[in-house]
Amino acid sequence: MSKKLVVGNWKMHGSRAANAELLKGLLEADLSASAPRSNVAVCVPFPYLGEVVATLQGSAITVGSQDVSAQAQGAYTGEVSGAMVREFGARYAIVGHSERRSYHSESDQLVADKAKAALAQGLVPIVCVGETLAEREADQTEAVVGRQLKAVADTLGADLSKVVVAYEPVWAIGTGKTASPAQAQAVHAFLRAQLKAAQAQAVNVPLLYGGSVKPDNAAELFSQTDIDGGLIGGASLKASDFAAIARAA
Ligand code: PGA
Repeated sequence: MSKKLVVGNWKMHGSRAANAELLKGLLEADLSASAPRSNVAVCVPFPYLGEVVATLQGSAITVGSQDVSAQAQGAYTGEVSGAMVREFGARYAIVGHSERRSYHSESDQLVADKAKAALAQGLVPIVCVGETLAEREADQTEAVVGRQLKAVADTLGADLSKVVVAYEPVWAIGTGKTASPAQAQAVHAFLRAQLKAAQAQAVNVPLLYGGSVKPDNAAELFSQTDIDGGLIGGASLKASDFAAIARAA
Protein backbone atom coordinates (compact mmCIF):
# COMPACT_ATOMS: atom_id res chain seq x y z
CA MET A 1 0.00 0.00 0.00
CA SER A 2 1.60 3.21 -1.05
CA LYS A 3 -1.24 5.64 -1.65
CA LYS A 4 -2.89 6.76 1.60
CA LEU A 5 -6.64 7.15 2.09
CA VAL A 6 -7.97 9.88 4.37
CA VAL A 7 -11.71 9.75 5.08
CA GLY A 8 -13.74 12.29 7.02
CA ASN A 9 -16.70 11.05 9.07
CA TRP A 10 -18.98 14.01 9.71
CA LYS A 11 -21.30 11.93 11.93
CA MET A 12 -24.60 13.72 12.66
CA HIS A 13 -23.14 17.18 12.22
CA GLY A 14 -23.79 19.81 9.62
CA SER A 15 -26.43 21.88 7.90
CA ARG A 16 -26.62 22.99 4.30
CA ALA A 17 -24.98 26.30 5.23
CA ALA A 18 -22.28 24.74 7.42
CA ASN A 19 -21.52 22.09 4.79
CA ALA A 20 -21.14 24.73 2.09
CA GLU A 21 -18.67 26.61 4.30
CA LEU A 22 -16.68 23.46 5.14
CA LEU A 23 -16.52 22.29 1.52
CA LYS A 24 -15.52 25.76 0.35
CA GLY A 25 -12.61 25.60 2.79
CA LEU A 26 -11.61 22.15 1.55
CA LEU A 27 -11.78 23.20 -2.08
CA GLU A 28 -9.73 26.31 -1.34
CA ALA A 29 -7.15 24.14 0.44
CA ASP A 30 -6.70 22.47 -2.96
CA LEU A 31 -5.79 18.94 -2.00
CA SER A 32 -5.00 18.08 -5.61
CA ALA A 33 -1.32 18.75 -4.89
CA SER A 34 -1.28 15.76 -2.51
CA ALA A 35 -3.50 13.66 -4.82
CA PRO A 36 -0.61 11.53 -6.12
CA ARG A 37 0.07 10.44 -2.53
CA SER A 38 -3.40 10.31 -1.01
CA ASN A 39 -7.08 9.84 -1.78
CA VAL A 40 -9.49 11.93 0.24
CA ALA A 41 -13.18 11.32 0.92
CA VAL A 42 -15.93 12.68 3.18
CA CYS A 43 -18.72 10.51 4.61
CA VAL A 44 -21.79 12.68 5.14
CA PRO A 45 -25.37 12.29 6.44
CA PHE A 46 -27.68 10.74 3.82
CA PRO A 47 -29.75 13.86 3.00
CA TYR A 48 -26.65 15.81 2.01
CA LEU A 49 -25.14 13.21 -0.35
CA GLY A 50 -26.43 14.70 -3.59
CA GLU A 51 -25.50 18.26 -2.73
CA VAL A 52 -22.03 17.35 -1.43
CA VAL A 53 -21.29 15.23 -4.52
CA ALA A 54 -22.38 18.11 -6.75
CA THR A 55 -20.24 20.62 -4.84
CA LEU A 56 -17.16 18.39 -5.02
CA GLN A 57 -17.59 17.52 -8.70
CA GLY A 58 -14.27 17.86 -10.48
CA SER A 59 -12.27 18.00 -7.25
CA ALA A 60 -9.98 15.29 -5.86
CA ILE A 61 -12.42 14.57 -3.00
CA THR A 62 -14.88 11.66 -3.18
CA VAL A 63 -17.96 11.04 -1.05
CA GLY A 64 -19.45 8.27 1.09
CA SER A 65 -22.32 7.51 3.44
CA GLN A 66 -21.96 6.60 7.13
CA ASP A 67 -24.07 3.47 6.99
CA VAL A 68 -26.03 1.41 4.49
CA SER A 69 -28.79 -1.18 4.71
CA ALA A 70 -27.98 -4.89 4.57
CA GLN A 71 -31.07 -5.21 2.36
CA ALA A 72 -31.22 -4.39 -1.33
CA GLN A 73 -34.77 -2.98 -1.28
CA GLY A 74 -38.19 -3.53 0.17
CA ALA A 75 -40.36 -2.83 3.19
CA TYR A 76 -37.62 -1.64 5.55
CA THR A 77 -38.86 1.69 6.85
CA GLY A 78 -36.07 4.12 7.57
CA GLU A 79 -33.36 2.11 5.81
CA VAL A 80 -31.28 3.43 2.91
CA SER A 81 -29.90 1.01 0.32
CA GLY A 82 -26.45 0.99 -1.20
CA ALA A 83 -28.00 1.50 -4.63
CA MET A 84 -29.61 4.74 -3.41
CA VAL A 85 -26.31 5.96 -2.02
CA ARG A 86 -24.52 4.97 -5.21
CA GLU A 87 -27.14 6.72 -7.35
CA PHE A 88 -26.21 9.99 -5.67
CA GLY A 89 -22.59 9.53 -6.74
CA ALA A 90 -21.05 8.20 -3.54
CA ARG A 91 -18.13 5.78 -3.63
CA TYR A 92 -17.84 4.59 -0.02
CA ALA A 93 -20.11 3.46 2.82
CA ILE A 94 -18.88 3.19 6.40
CA VAL A 95 -20.27 0.04 8.02
CA GLY A 96 -20.03 -1.14 11.62
CA HIS A 97 -18.90 2.13 13.17
CA SER A 98 -18.69 1.58 16.93
CA GLU A 99 -21.46 4.14 17.49
CA ARG A 100 -23.78 1.97 15.40
CA ARG A 101 -22.58 -1.24 17.03
CA SER A 102 -23.26 0.19 20.48
CA TYR A 103 -26.27 2.54 20.04
CA HIS A 104 -28.05 0.40 17.45
CA SER A 105 -26.95 -3.03 18.65
CA GLU A 106 -25.42 -3.94 15.30
CA SER A 107 -23.97 -7.45 15.44
CA ASP A 108 -20.81 -8.64 13.73
CA GLN A 109 -22.97 -10.57 11.25
CA LEU A 110 -25.18 -7.57 10.44
CA VAL A 111 -22.07 -5.49 9.80
CA ALA A 112 -20.75 -8.22 7.51
CA ASP A 113 -24.09 -8.34 5.66
CA LYS A 114 -23.97 -4.55 5.24
CA ALA A 115 -20.46 -4.82 3.80
CA LYS A 116 -21.71 -7.45 1.36
CA ALA A 117 -24.71 -5.34 0.33
CA ALA A 118 -22.52 -2.27 -0.16
CA LEU A 119 -20.16 -4.20 -2.45
CA ALA A 120 -23.04 -5.73 -4.39
CA GLN A 121 -24.37 -2.25 -5.04
CA GLY A 122 -21.14 -0.73 -6.25
CA LEU A 123 -19.86 0.87 -3.05
CA VAL A 124 -16.59 0.26 -1.22
CA PRO A 125 -17.42 -0.59 2.40
CA ILE A 126 -15.21 0.91 5.09
CA VAL A 127 -15.56 -1.75 7.78
CA CYS A 128 -14.87 -0.45 11.29
CA VAL A 129 -13.49 -2.68 14.04
CA GLY A 130 -12.24 -1.79 17.49
CA GLU A 131 -12.17 -2.73 21.15
CA THR A 132 -13.53 -0.91 24.19
CA LEU A 133 -11.28 0.22 27.03
CA ALA A 134 -12.48 -2.66 29.21
CA GLU A 135 -11.65 -5.13 26.44
CA ARG A 136 -8.17 -3.65 25.98
CA GLU A 137 -7.51 -3.75 29.70
CA ALA A 138 -8.62 -7.39 29.76
CA ASP A 139 -6.11 -8.09 26.98
CA GLN A 140 -8.93 -8.90 24.56
CA THR A 141 -8.04 -6.47 21.77
CA GLU A 142 -6.94 -9.10 19.24
CA ALA A 143 -9.78 -11.44 20.18
CA VAL A 144 -12.35 -8.66 19.63
CA VAL A 145 -11.05 -7.17 16.38
CA GLY A 146 -10.27 -10.69 15.11
CA ARG A 147 -13.87 -11.77 15.75
CA GLN A 148 -15.28 -8.62 14.10
CA LEU A 149 -13.07 -9.11 11.05
CA LYS A 150 -13.77 -12.85 10.79
CA ALA A 151 -17.51 -12.28 10.35
CA VAL A 152 -16.71 -10.07 7.36
CA ALA A 153 -14.14 -12.49 5.94
CA ASP A 154 -16.52 -15.46 6.25
CA THR A 155 -19.36 -13.54 4.62
CA LEU A 156 -17.40 -11.97 1.77
CA GLY A 157 -15.09 -14.81 0.77
CA ALA A 158 -12.96 -13.75 -2.19
CA ASP A 159 -14.49 -10.25 -2.11
CA LEU A 160 -12.70 -9.53 1.17
CA SER A 161 -9.92 -7.94 -0.89
CA LYS A 162 -12.35 -5.22 -2.09
CA VAL A 163 -13.05 -3.60 1.28
CA VAL A 164 -11.33 -0.97 3.39
CA VAL A 165 -10.88 -1.72 7.09
CA ALA A 166 -10.71 0.96 9.78
CA TYR A 167 -9.27 0.16 13.19
CA GLU A 168 -10.96 2.48 15.66
CA PRO A 169 -10.34 1.74 19.33
CA VAL A 170 -13.59 2.80 20.99
CA TRP A 171 -11.69 4.45 23.86
CA ALA A 172 -9.96 6.79 21.41
CA ILE A 173 -13.04 8.00 19.52
CA GLY A 174 -13.91 11.59 20.28
CA THR A 175 -12.03 11.41 23.57
CA GLY A 176 -8.84 13.19 22.61
CA LYS A 177 -6.99 10.00 23.62
CA THR A 178 -5.17 8.59 20.60
CA ALA A 179 -3.70 5.13 20.39
CA SER A 180 0.07 5.61 20.32
CA PRO A 181 1.56 4.94 16.89
CA ALA A 182 3.07 1.73 18.31
CA GLN A 183 -0.27 0.56 19.77
CA ALA A 184 -2.06 1.29 16.50
CA GLN A 185 0.67 -0.34 14.41
CA ALA A 186 0.53 -3.52 16.53
CA VAL A 187 -3.21 -3.94 15.92
CA HIS A 188 -2.84 -3.06 12.23
CA ALA A 189 -0.13 -5.71 11.83
CA PHE A 190 -2.45 -8.23 13.48
CA LEU A 191 -5.32 -7.24 11.16
CA ARG A 192 -3.03 -7.46 8.12
CA ALA A 193 -2.03 -10.99 9.09
CA GLN A 194 -5.67 -11.99 9.64
CA LEU A 195 -6.68 -10.54 6.27
CA LYS A 196 -3.86 -12.40 4.55
CA ALA A 197 -4.71 -15.66 6.29
CA ALA A 198 -8.36 -15.32 5.25
CA GLN A 199 -7.63 -14.47 1.65
CA ALA A 200 -4.23 -13.98 0.01
CA GLN A 201 -5.24 -10.89 -2.01
CA ALA A 202 -6.72 -9.22 1.07
CA VAL A 203 -3.22 -8.50 2.31
CA ASN A 204 -3.49 -5.27 0.28
CA VAL A 205 -6.71 -4.06 1.91
CA PRO A 206 -6.19 -0.44 3.03
CA LEU A 207 -6.07 -0.29 6.84
CA LEU A 208 -7.15 3.07 8.26
CA TYR A 209 -6.62 4.19 11.84
CA GLY A 210 -9.36 6.24 13.51
CA GLY A 211 -9.71 7.80 16.95
CA SER A 212 -8.74 11.38 17.76
CA VAL A 213 -6.52 11.84 14.70
CA LYS A 214 -5.45 15.49 14.62
CA PRO A 215 -3.08 17.57 12.48
CA ASP A 216 -0.36 17.19 15.11
CA ASN A 217 -0.44 13.39 15.40
CA ALA A 218 -1.44 12.38 11.86
CA ALA A 219 2.01 12.26 10.27
CA GLU A 220 3.45 9.93 12.90
CA LEU A 221 0.45 7.61 12.76
CA PHE A 222 0.49 7.54 8.96
CA SER A 223 4.22 6.74 8.90
CA GLN A 224 3.62 3.33 10.53
CA THR A 225 4.18 0.36 8.23
CA ASP A 226 0.63 -0.98 8.33
CA ILE A 227 -1.31 2.29 8.64
CA ASP A 228 -2.61 3.21 5.20
CA GLY A 229 -4.57 6.30 6.17
CA GLY A 230 -7.15 7.56 8.63
CA LEU A 231 -10.84 7.81 9.45
CA ILE A 232 -11.29 11.26 10.91
CA GLY A 233 -14.27 12.37 13.02
CA GLY A 234 -14.09 15.65 14.91
CA ALA A 235 -11.15 17.07 12.97
CA SER A 236 -12.95 16.51 9.64
CA LEU A 237 -15.43 19.26 10.56
CA LYS A 238 -12.78 21.96 10.35
CA ALA A 239 -11.46 22.50 6.83
CA SER A 240 -7.98 23.60 7.91
CA ASP A 241 -7.55 20.60 10.24
CA PHE A 242 -8.85 18.06 7.74
CA ALA A 243 -6.72 19.52 4.96
CA ALA A 244 -3.66 19.39 7.22
CA ILE A 245 -4.36 15.72 8.03
CA ALA A 246 -4.82 14.92 4.33
CA ARG A 247 -1.48 16.61 3.60
CA ALA A 248 0.20 14.60 6.34
CA ALA A 249 -0.71 11.42 4.46
P1 PGA B 1 -12.77 11.16 16.18
O1 PGA B 1 -13.78 10.08 15.52
O2 PGA B 1 -11.74 11.47 15.13
O3 PGA B 1 -13.63 12.33 16.51
O4 PGA B 1 -12.17 10.51 17.36
C1 PGA B 1 -13.33 9.07 14.67
C2 PGA B 1 -14.49 8.24 14.22
O5 PGA B 1 -15.40 7.98 15.03
O6 PGA B 1 -14.56 7.81 13.04
